[in-house]
Amino acid sequence: METSEKEQAKDGAKTNGDAAAAPSKEAHPHRDSGKAIVSMQGVSKTFYRGKEPVPVLDNLDLEIAEGAFEALMGPSGSGKSTLLNLIAGLDRPTRGQARVAGSNLTDMNDAELAKFRSRTIGFIFQQYNLMPVLTALENVELPLLLTKLSGSERKKRAQTALRVVGLENRMTHYPRQLSGGQEQRVAIARAIVNDPTIIVADEPTGDLDRKNADEILSLLEKLNTEFKKTIVMVTHDPAAAERATVTRRLDKGALT
Ligand SMILES: Nc1ncnc2c1ncn2[C@@H]1O[C@H](COP(=O)(O)OP(=O)(O)OP(=O)(O)O)[C@@H](O)[C@H]1O
Ligand SMILES: [Mg+2]
Repeated sequence: METSEKEQAKDGAKTNGDAAAAPSKEAHPHRDSGKAIVSMQGVSKTFYRGKEPVPVLDNLDLEIAEGAFEALMGPSGSGKSTLLNLIAGLDRPTRGQARVAGSNLTDMNDAELAKFRSRTIGFIFQQYNLMPVLTALENVELPLLLTKLSGSERKKRAQTALRVVGLENRMTHYPRQLSGGQEQRVAIARAIVNDPTIIVADEPTGDLDRKNADEILSLLEKLNTEFKKTIVMVTHDPAAAERATVTRRLDKGALT
């Protein structure tokens, strides 16, 4: 997973030229409105190792309501990250329909998928994936570098995002000068600086002790309730899943 997570981080840091916005409280006013923001029908995913097919997801149906905070659990190798990557538009299903935030991902080419991701998705990873040579503020600014925003506007938005995660007094620190919990909060600020509709988090508390994990979970809860972000979080931690409003289980490529 290491390499692909790094690729994803690079990718998450890219963005298109659209005007980005600081996290807005009004963007999605109806939490759990019943409207599906993720809708998958008959989705299968098969990888190929050489010529040998490795079936991972098998004919999945999945609906996630706009404004939900969902936890996805299941044994190692059951396909959780694979499913999360399909939701996030990092990969396409082998078969089936995947609609996310109004876009039909199955039919998109790579460039369209990249645009979709930069507009719609905020990524959070287990290993934070911060750039060691950049300060907290510069790390959070990264996704805005390819937008048309001015330097001062970028800085302002990055500062706002760092304030949301409670790191207003760590902006000039480098990752090595931060605790693990603080590093993850910087990564969360980076994930929200573009005001994404959906946050996908792959084991966001996997490297943290209980106290820091709980703080990160409280922050995700706040992004869900106050900022109306739909959150899909893969986790092995039952305490983390308890903070979500819905828990799904994946086993041998099927949702149970
Ligand atoms: N790019 C790939 N090429 C080939 N096989 C892959 C690829 N990505 C994932 N797989 C296989 O798909 C299966 C599911 O992987 P996935 O990473 O989705 O599991 P997971 O549920 O996230 O596991 P974990 O809890 O260990 O992170 C595994 O058997 C894995 O080897
Ligand atoms: Mg995984």
